[in-house]
Amino acid sequence: MKKIAIMTAGGDCAGLNSAIKAIVMTANTHGIETIGVTDGYIGFVEGNYIPLTVDTVRNIEIQGGTMLGSSNKECPFHYYNKKTGGFDDRTDEGIKKLRAQGVEGMVVVGGDGTLDSARVIFEHGMPTVGIPKTIDNDMSASEPTIGFQTAIEAAVEAIRRLITTAYSHRRVMVVELMGRTSGYLTLYAGFAAGADIILLPEHDYNLKAVCNRVDEIMKSGKRYVIIAISEAAKEEGGEETIAKLVKDSFEQKRYGGVSQKLAAQIEQLTGYETRATVLGHIQRGGEPTTQDIILGAQLGNAAAKLLIEGNPGYIVGMKGGKVQKVEFPKDRVPRLLDFEKDDLCKTARDMGIFLGVEE
Ligand code: F6P
Repeated sequence: MKKIAIMTAGGDCAGLNSAIKAIVMTANTHGIETIGVTDGYIGFVEGNYIPLTVDTVRNIEIQGGTMLGSSNKECPFHYYNKKTGGFDDRTDEGIKKLRAQGVEGMVVVGGDGTLDSARVIFEHGMPTVGIPKTIDNDMSASEPTIGFQTAIEAAVEAIRRLITTAYSHRRVMVVELMGRTSGYLTLYAGFAAGADIILLPEHDYNLKAVCNRVDEIMKSGKRYVIIAISEAAKEEGGEETIAKLVKDSFEQKRYGGVSQKLAAQIEQLTGYETRATVLGHIQRGGEPTTQDIILGAQLGNAAAKLLIEGNPGYIVGMKGGKVQKVEFPKDRVPRLLDFEKDDLCKTARDMGIFLGVEE
């Protein structure tokens, strides 16, 4: 093997650059060249690359985002055609363009959608290895995924800022976190920041019970209430709150707005002044934590080694503190929190943190 390609795709997060650096440096140690595919599957299909050397990746691990660029809409086998408005399979075209560059293997860093496409690329003949990344932490191949720890830290810092203003004004603050249908980010960040109420997509909340708890806390003399809510959480019998549908995206739903809805309901039903804050893309940005730098490097190194050893077709992830490989799954099912069994859910409940429904 003389040359490998690296691609990052899906929503960006912190720790991606560390993975890129580790792949480049590991390949370099084995005398293998590397190129980067730019902007995720756009660059794969269009054939856009940049050279990657030990010099170009120096110190990149301390920067957030991805030096290669990313996109979370495109899928190579369901690629939007602007002219027809339909979708085409452009997998073979992308592989052909890579082969024309002398590329003999590829490492793809991405979420479940991205790695599902990586599986298809592998099945179409390009030796491929996947690395899981997402602030949502919703992939069974790695616990945690690259980016999760940094997103927790960003969200915790933001929630702590809300606490001081909530205290001053005797207010209820509803803070909305990302994560799509998985509640990991909301649970971990909400818990670490001292939220009183945590509402997760894995378990619908009861509005009346939430309002009762708000009233209890305010009457206890605490002056403020912090409610952390996942963007895809919903009331019992209610619907998810969708901010927009992105037409040319493989996964079209973009969540957003549940915090405003809930804040208005709480203010109306309890009479307490309530404000909503959507943390949004703040959670994806910024420099990686040391854990994400190390995780990115370990998984990048393991992925490069699998390719170099001629052992593609796997996703490398962290499981129980050890780097492990699993075959590309055939389906793209997100890993959700087990609301009843998850240890942190149990701890939170035991400490009196309200998770949206009376026990
Ligand atoms: O999957 C990562 C993620 O940040 C989700 O938590 C969020 O719902 C989504 O991406 C946001 O997507 P976009 O960047 O397209 O708004």
